[in-house]
Amino acid sequence: MAEAISIRGVGRDFAGRAGRVAVLRGVDLEAPDGEFLAVLGASGCGKSTLLRLVAGLDEPSTGEVRIGGERVTDCDPRCAVVFQEPRLLPWKTVEQNVALGARGVPGTTSPVEMLARVGLAGTERAWPHQLSGGMAQRAALARALLRAPSVLLLDEPFAALDAFTRLQMGDLLRETCRDRSRTVLLVTHDVDEALRLADRVVLLAGRPASVAADYRIDGHEPARLRAEILARFGLRVAA
Ligand SMILES: Nc1ncnc2c1ncn2[C@@H]1O[C@H](COP(=O)(O)OP(=O)(O)OP(=O)(O)O)[C@@H](O)[C@H]1O
Ligand SMILES: [Mg+2]
Repeated sequence: MAEAISIRGVGRDFAGRAGRVAVLRGVDLEAPDGEFLAVLGASGCGKSTLLRLVAGLDEPSTGEVRIGGERVTDCDPRCAVVFQEPRLLPWKTVEQNVALGARGVPGTTSPVEMLARVGLAGTERAWPHQLSGGMAQRAALARALLRAPSVLLLDEPFAALDAFTRLQMGDLLRETCRDRSRTVLLVTHDVDEALRLADRVVLLAGRPASVAADYRIDGHEPARLRAEILARFGLRVAA
């Protein structure tokens, strides 16, 4: 069952060489249950940091993050995360890695079926090191999808994929989330991917970063919205 994400007044700072460095400050963001939200931002602005706070992999310095009205716990079991790199367990086969996602979940899709859906049929018995980077990332996506969590957190999951597979995986993700059975937070720096997949796009910007803009995609003319978002990053698109 999808649950809403609520991020209120969140800040995170880290110890740097010249004292504490604030990476996030005053981040306010509400994602209703079942929403597909994309978070866009320049490299190093704090996107992964924010995602880790939602997953309960890190704690905010200020403010709070709630899922379904309750504070997130350490490695919150309501979340499944796909990181920027696959993080498969090297001592388990591809199928065993994907099956980890299904642990304790009375799902209808088997690991083998899920592997086929991400285009990895036939790799069940392979070891992670035998896969290409893009294949391993697809296995990581299969593992997360199989878990059918309340909240699916994706940290640039398609960055290592070729353009064609990237589009295919985006479609699969959109298809899987169409029933709104999970709330999705997709971190990306690809404006077109965000516009194609999400219901809403939020821009994270500034040092420390906070929510600089928030666009609901419905009701906007896509090319205009794209130009507007790119302009926020200082980029101009040819008409
Ligand atoms: N554990 C940490 N200790 C110190 N600094 C950190 C830590 N984690 C992140 N940072 C700093 O926080 C800033 C934001 O990092 P983060 O990984 O969240 O950026 P990002 O937006 O995900 O970047 P990218 O698009 O390149 O993945 C960076 O300057 C980084 O050095
Ligand atoms: Mg990152």
